[in-house]
Amino acid sequence: MSAAFPFDPILLDALRNARFIVALTGAGISAESGLATFRDAQAGLWARFDPREFATPSAFARHPKRVWDWYAWRREQVASARPNAGHFALADLERRAHAFALVTQNVDGLHQRAGSRNVIELHGNIGRVRCSSEGTRVELWDESGEDVPRCPRCGALLRPDVVWFDEMLPAEALAAAQDAARRCDALLAIGTSAEVYPAAALPASARAAGAIVVEINPNETSLSRRAHHVLRGPAGEILPALLARLALPAS
Ligand code: OAD
Repeated sequence: MSAAFPFDPILLDALRNARFIVALTGAGISAESGLATFRDAQAGLWARFDPREFATPSAFARHPKRVWDWYAWRREQVASARPNAGHFALADLERRAHAFALVTQNVDGLHQRAGSRNVIELHGNIGRVRCSSEGTRVELWDESGEDVPRCPRCGALLRPDVVWFDEMLPAEALAAAQDAARRCDALLAIGTSAEVYPAAALPASARAAGAIVVEINPNETSLSRRAHHVLRGPAGEILPALLARLALPAS
């Protein structure tokens, strides 16, 4: 793959000379780990489940147990998934780039498990749970009962520590991501349909501030025509091949 993939020499030079690289990832980078994306026409989660019934505060208010169980089911899938070559390549890029930030919309924690350190989680993490009233994170909870577990401090229902539709993103993470997008020289948009804001606005911010924008995705997205470079293919193949061609020294 490495030798065969026709990487544009202009892209390779730009990445070699970049002082600060940002990667923005979406569900597609975890597809090769066996986790479903959201908007794939057949297998995507939103083709099988209505997001308004599973990923909104009002769904949780109406049917807390159904929402809790759906996240518990996904949490189990995440726990048995393994990071793939795309996750590992980004962890490697972090070690080799002058400066690097990884902004992810994913809640699966696979970047951290692959060794990435500077990870900005925009949509939370499915492995964590917090109080639905006070917001306090809770480390241990009991899944065995019939009902949704409750906060040991105040008795309110626990909920997954993820961002639902109609909710704000964590302010600190969003500010860090926007700052990184404005300051970077290159932004790699990997495995995202770029449909969900504010994350979807980050490539345009980077571009407006003078960065090159590179899309890595097997399919066309709304970002494709606004990216300077488009690498068509699965992240688990493209990213390791790109790293090999860049041949950046480890720092
Ligand atoms: P989507 O499901 O919208 O998009 C996944 C993208 O990954 C698509 O563009 C696919 O073409 C691409 N893809 C599939 N396989 C790939 C592979 N092997 N390598 C690279 N790309 C691949 O997922 P997101 O863009 O992450 O939010 O969705 C954004 C947000 O919408 C999610 O964080 C979630 C969802 O609703 C919330 O739940 C709040």
